[in-house]
Amino acid sequence: MCGIIGCVGRGTETLDTLVEGLGTLEYRGYDSAGVALVDDDGLSVVKAAGELSALRERLADRALSGTVGIGHTRWSTHGPPTDENAHPHLDCTGRVAVVHNGIIENYQSLRADLEATGHEFRSDTDTEVIPHLVGKRLADGDTPSAAFRGAVDRLEGSYAVAAVVAGSRRLFAARNDSPLVVGLGGDEPTLDTADPAFIASDVPAFREHTPHVVYLDDGEFVTLDDGITVTDETGTRVRKAVETVGWDPEQTGKSGYEHFMLKEIHEQPRALRQCLSGRVDELRGAADLDLDLTAPTGVQFVAAGTSYHASLYGAELFRRAGVPAQAFLASEYATSPPPLGADLVVGVTQSGETADTLSALREAARRGAETLAVTNTVSSTADRECDHTLLIRSGPEIGVAATKTFAGQLAALNLLTLGTVEDVRSRRAVLPALRDLPGDVQAVLDSSVASTVAETYRDAAAYFFIGRGLQFPVALEGALKLKEISYEHAEGFAAGELKHGPLALVQADTPVFAVVLGDGERAHKTVGNIKEVEARDAPVVAVTDGQSDAHLYADHVLEVPETHPRVAALLANVQLQLVAYYIADGLGRPIDKPRNLAKSVTVE
Ligand code: M6R
Repeated sequence: MCGIIGCVGRGTETLDTLVEGLGTLEYRGYDSAGVALVDDDGLSVVKAAGELSALRERLADRALSGTVGIGHTRWSTHGPPTDENAHPHLDCTGRVAVVHNGIIENYQSLRADLEATGHEFRSDTDTEVIPHLVGKRLADGDTPSAAFRGAVDRLEGSYAVAAVVAGSRRLFAARNDSPLVVGLGGDEPTLDTADPAFIASDVPAFREHTPHVVYLDDGEFVTLDDGITVTDETGTRVRKAVETVGWDPEQTGKSGYEHFMLKEIHEQPRALRQCLSGRVDELRGAADLDLDLTAPTGVQFVAAGTSYHASLYGAELFRRAGVPAQAFLASEYATSPPPLGADLVVGVTQSGETADTLSALREAARRGAETLAVTNTVSSTADRECDHTLLIRSGPEIGVAATKTFAGQLAALNLLTLGTVEDVRSRRAVLPALRDLPGDVQAVLDSSVASTVAETYRDAAAYFFIGRGLQFPVALEGALKLKEISYEHAEGFAAGELKHGPLALVQADTPVFAVVLGDGERAHKTVGNIKEVEARDAPVVAVTDGQSDAHLYADHVLEVPETHPRVAALLANVQLQLVAYYIADGLGRPIDKPRNLAKSVTVE
């Protein structure tokens, strides 16, 4: 989704700060970029469709010297990715520049009103109404600060918005339903002393310059000047807490890996250690979550994409512990009639900013449920709005494809059920497997033959993934990972469903990845499905711990260490992550920034 960076107080380094900041926001997904700077002579804007390199090329021909600036990476919603639709957008006079993330729902009526009074628009975007509204108020005699506030007051929808005005050394910003964070430069800065000061959609944009941050809440406005002024909807000053982010900029580099995704796959042992640290007490047979949560009698999960797959897994864990639980696609939840009651609604979201998931959580709260965020992002909207938070502690994830955070979600959901509803017998069975999990993931990473399998099947017509029980979400996730980064057709199915339709698609050039763990009834049934696939000449890749006969019928085997079957699901997933990575890499895809996708999906 769109990324915003802005800064005041960087002097001659303003432009570099903006462009480097945009580079760190690339992971969010974008299709055009631009910057606006204010100097003594006025306001300059440079923007370009395409990658950041196109903007850099354009900037090379221009000598921009401003010391207050904003920058933006745009992920198209209203209008195609063109130079005209790229942000920043200007008002008619060219005095006001605005960048925006989100969707202005009433932009058509605002635009019609403005056009009726002579305003001329240059883009198809919803955003362009904002600089025109600011410009109109300036023309009516408002100060820049009052003009910005007055313009934002007219907006309906979601926005993180930042503006600069020619002749002013100030930067104005506001948020509603879209993330926006303020960075405070200087030694141990306060709101009054911060210099330089930054605004961004996400901390990496300015982390190189400062670890000190203020997270804005919905309805808040901020002015960056000599210091930082935050006000609420009524204009009353708010004293915000200054927080310090725990990770360093090095963590957001590639550390020698070709792609962030590969680095993050390999970071899983460490990420899982962090997730489990201090939470697994084998001696007492307990999971310590530090959550003030009573055992729920019914649970609903709301999530999107990979996090929805984690939710399917979590719901199954609760059901196995005897607690009714269901997983819902967040985008369907809020607008559907309430399902059967639940006293706990769990939002699983690595970013904590997914608009669909936030809407579903808000709807759940309105319906009277207690809410829990399972997230990777401290102080994200989900963290701040939910009654409880369980952090997965995976560290920053930059690749658009979720990898280590999915592992963290599955581990955290194990801790959640163990810590709230599971009996001591199952705790004693699962806790040792969780303790060994980071080492087992490392063993998979060290021995995997996924790159050979990927090479063998790189030119397949389509890819199918099957699994039962807790292996079903792993099959769905294997398919999602492959399709999003390779652009190849991939589908995941509950293994038993294959014969109810998808089998019609299975043939010699459609490999089937079968996740078969343990030696129980489900594993035996999946082996039966493998035989059905083989009878149709389709190659089979078994992802297995060797306990069943799956390996006997498979063309290739991706092995995982033997452990508790529900924990083994995480190991099988690592093999499928590697398969997806190597197929996409072999096809030369832009793995960390797949087309049309965004890391943080902040619109519904
Ligand atoms: O930040 P969230 O976990 O809420 O994100 C949800 C999905 O957008 C996300 O998992 C998406 O499906 C990933 N690109 C999958 O790799």
